[in-house]
Amino acid sequence: MGRRATAVLISGSGTNLQALLDAARAPDYPAAIRLVVSNRPDAFGLERARRAKVPAVVVDHRAFAAREDFEAAIEEELRLAEVELVCLAGFMRILSAEFCARWRDRVLNIHPSLLPAYRGLRTHERALSDGVAVSGCTVHFVRPELDAGPVLVQGVVPVLPDDDAERLRRRVLEVEHRCYPLALALQATGRVRVGDGGVVDDARPGERLVLHPLLARLAANSPSFGNEPG
Ligand code: GRF
Repeated sequence: MGRRATAVLISGSGTNLQALLDAARAPDYPAAIRLVVSNRPDAFGLERARRAKVPAVVVDHRAFAAREDFEAAIEEELRLAEVELVCLAGFMRILSAEFCARWRDRVLNIHPSLLPAYRGLRTHERALSDGVAVSGCTVHFVRPELDAGPVLVQGVVPVLPDDDAERLRRRVLEVEHRCYPLALALQATGRVRVGDGGVVDDARPGERLVLHPLLARLAANSPSFGNEPG
């Protein structure tokens, strides 16, 4: 199978975009980043795309009266770039049920919590005020409900005694940058599918992918991106 043409949708800094761009430089990575779409003209991620020589377009939501028109403009860009897969990476617009249905199981999102805990915003503040011992991130397939959908990969980080929201955010972000390339690779190889009880990895049936400081095998820096079980 050739590299799967992937678009990354952003609204801001784009550090997760950067992690995907970096991973996709490996010759055996199964996805190629063919397009970056930002709904904000000032998103720094556009500069990251430019540096990586990846086409980037701005589809400014403020230019459209209706969400359907905004989404139609995005889909036209995806069509022109012959995109097969979409990664939401800090994309701060909610996609309609119709868009989600048309792209079902082809859109991933990354969220800075261990879903289903802490959907929505201010995840780290809420985790800290609840006094949880661990937090992390989740890469999941997108469904119309906000921050919901079958989980592909989760990354766990400890909450440390002297954490504030910013320190925790940075530690979670580091794990995000490892989880997202791994999740996209899994999806791009076609190795995973959405089953009744969630995502199934046919090469490792019964296993869930969790990046955890104590799980050295899964936290290895160079996961196998090929079709063979690692
Ligand atoms: C990340 O924390 C991601 O989980 C959330 O938005 C943030 C985007 O950060 N959805 P960046 O733009 O990738 O740096």
